[in-house]
Amino acid sequence: MPAPVSLPRKRSEGPPSVGKPWGIVLRSPRETHRLGRWLGRFVQGGEVIALIGELGAGKTSLVRGIADGLLAEPASVSSPTFTLIHEYRGRLPLVHADLYRLTAAELEDTGLGDYLDGRTVTAIEWADRWGENLASDRLDVHLSHHPSAVRRALLTARGPSARRLLMAVRSRLSPYRPTREPRQTRVQLTRPRRASH
Ligand SMILES: Nc1ncnc2c1ncn2[C@@H]1O[C@H](COP(=O)(O)OP(=O)(O)OP(=O)(O)O)[C@@H](O)[C@H]1O
Ligand SMILES: [Mg+2]
Repeated sequence: MPAPVSLPRKRSEGPPSVGKPWGIVLRSPRETHRLGRWLGRFVQGGEVIALIGELGAGKTSLVRGIADGLLAEPASVSSPTFTLIHEYRGRLPLVHADLYRLTAAELEDTGLGDYLDGRTVTAIEWADRWGENLASDRLDVHLSHHPSAVRRALLTARGPSARRLLMAVRSRLSPYRPTREPRQTRVQLTRPRRASH
């Protein structure tokens, strides 16, 4: 694979602030879809979701979920093999790009940067090929094969809108922890003494 190409950073409001990564095990394609669907439900427009992971890691499956959450047509989402960029209409516009097959020269001329506006949600497979300067505010989603054929996703927020999105999704997908029952106070019941005559 060719080395990543550096492009001028979009929305350069200083250095990106990187949040703590959050990991989740995805036990089936359905769970990958579900993670994507929550992302699609919580995006507010303008988010960049950078999908990073080896062949077959579940990147396109996740984008299908995002489309579903955005009320676009998830079944129409496929790997954009020949056309680099696909656009879907939902609650917000969704742009889906796959940088895998692009040469370094083509990467510099994708036109993808034009989509990085305040409204379009952009999901990019093989985003790492674009290098670190893709967008200063973005959500990195690293997908990897996990033993026993499941997948693992590691999500890292790089910037404020990505952090908001990650917090919203986490609140839905973090395991439920019951709150502790308040301690019960023991009441000692004592029998009233009989009056002795
Ligand atoms: N959590 C999961 N557990 C097991 N299989 C999964 C999971 N998520 C997705 N898959 C399956 O993995 C296969 C590859 O998925 P997908 O096409 O989304 O990967 P990809 O990362 O887009 O691949 P490529 O690198 O070729 O673009 C599909 O058959 C999909 O159903
Ligand atoms: Mg794919």
